[in-house]
This record gives sequence, C-alpha cells and structure tokens, in this order.
Amino acid sequence: MRVLSGIQPTGRFHWGNYFGAIQQYIELQTADEAYYFIANLHALTTVRDATLLRQLTTDAAIDLLALGLDPEHAVVFVQSDVPEVSELCWLLMTGTPLGLLERCHAFKDKKEKGIKAGAGLFTYPVLMAADILAYDANQVPVGDDQRQHIEVCRDLAASFNHHYGETFVMPEAKTIDSTAKVPGTDGEKMSKSYQNTLEIFENPRTLRKKIMRITTDSRPMEEPKEPKDDHLYQLYRLVATESERHAMAALYRGGGFGYGEVKKALFEAAERFFAEPRARRKELEAHPQRVK
Ligand code: TRP
Repeated sequence: MRVLSGIQPTGRFHWGNYFGAIQQYIELQTADEAYYFIANLHALTTVRDATLLRQLTTDAAIDLLALGLDPEHAVVFVQSDVPEVSELCWLLMTGTPLGLLERCHAFKDKKEKGIKAGAGLFTYPVLMAADILAYDANQVPVGDDQRQHIEVCRDLAASFNHHYGETFVMPEAKTIDSTAKVPGTDGEKMSKSYQNTLEIFENPRTLRKKIMRITTDSRPMEEPKEPKDDHLYQLYRLVATESERHAMAALYRGGGFGYGEVKKALFEAAERFFAEPRARRKELEAHPQRVK
C-alpha cells in the first residue's frame, strides 16, 4: 500500500494543520510506504514572490521534520524537484474536459468571493492528479475539502487508462479523522484566512497572549458548563494528558471556575506538548545542509 500526500508551504503551520493532518501523516509513515511532499508548485497560485516561496519551502521542511516526518520511514521531498510531474500534468491536461474543473468547489468558491482566478488556480486539480498518478499512489490522505480533487484525479486516470491502456493505478482518498476539527481563537474553525490561528512554533510570549485573548462566553462562573460545547476546552483536550482532560472536564461540569485558569492550563499544556518538536526545530535550523 502506497500512501501519498502533499502539503502547501503557505506559511507557518498552526494547530489546525497539525491535529487535522500532519499528525496523521506521521502515524501513517510507519504502517505503509509513505510519500510526502511540499507542494511548492501549487503554492505558486498564491505566493508569487520567489524568495519568499523558497523560504516558506525550507521552513515547511524544517517544521515537518521537527514534528516527526522521518526520512527513515517516508520519502519526503519537494514537488518541483521532480519535473516529470509537470510534464505529466500537461499530458493529463490535454485530456481534461473544462466542465470537470469548472465544477470544483475550491475554484468556484474563490471565484464567487471575487478572488482573481488565474489558469493555475483553475488547473490546480490536474497538477494534483499528476502528483498522485506519477507515483502510483494507492491512498491519498486528505481533508474533506480535497476529496473532490481526488475524484477529478480518478476521472482523469480512468479516461487515460481507457484511451491508452492500463497505465495508472486508481488511487483512493483516505479521509483523515475529521473529528479532529480544531477551533480557532474565536471559536470558528481554525484557518489562516480567519486570522484565528495558534502557530505550533510560536514564541511562548506571543502564544500566551493569543491564548489569553481567546473569546469565552459570559455565563457566570458558578454555572456548570458542558466541556464539549466550549472551544477553550476543545483546544485544551488536544494538548492535555488524559488525566488532565478528565480533571478539566470535571471542573467544567462542577462550575465555579474561571476561564483565566483554563487558559493558563492550556498554555502550560501546549508548551509541554510541543517542547520536543521545538527543540528539534532549533537543532535543524542550525543545520540547513542536513535539512537539504
Ligand atoms: N491541494 C492539497 C492541499 O492544499 C495539497 C496537494 C497538492 C496534494 N498535491 C497533492 C494533496 C496531491 C494530496 C495529493 O491540501
């Protein structure tokens, strides 16, 4: 079984990226044959500054290695280092019906929002199909938002195989645990475009400030609360130990606590949870040649 996925290097990774995807890529790398790449060509649809994109690509590599992607277990690479993928993209594109791409939600949403859409954004799913088909990947772990792109890939593979004979392995989407929805500091889904993120490698002072500013409801302290309805608790449970989680849930249900206490506990648990990757990141940063 070959697993493959791509990650766009569009900025520093946040908790949503980690608990929603990266953590699961790391788990999969020991079970199956895993290929993970930094999708810098896809990132060109939003990042146009060459120096910046190179920096983001290096940063993404360091972050992923620090978090636990392990070249001993997985093939970790940069998308543009394999130019055959771009070649395959063109071959696939000549057989791609416009309608297939026009139906893609990711493209439609951007267009409806009035974001200027170039041909790169429109043909984005074809490059993604080339990424997957070039490596004979069987399974592609992706979030819900990318499932439709995997469907496009399957369509293109089937039609190519029909035309030219069995060539490509038919890949399948492997939905990664969507229960890991991570709320942002305002309670909405954590996303860079909502500016409500907590970065994994944030410096402690900034992280503390961001946590202290997390919005909370205004019910009186004495009132018992259901932890699972509260986004502060949802964040806490991601980084706390099991016993801490139980203790915090009991505190919520009992009432009589302040959100300030929870925020303090959240900050401390987060510092502990990401301490090791942080130390590894420092070490890797000091050895750019080794990262390369
Ligand atoms: N489009 C994916 C995303 O934004 C990244 C990606 C590019 C990808 N190529 C891929 C994911 C191939 C899986 C397979 O999340």
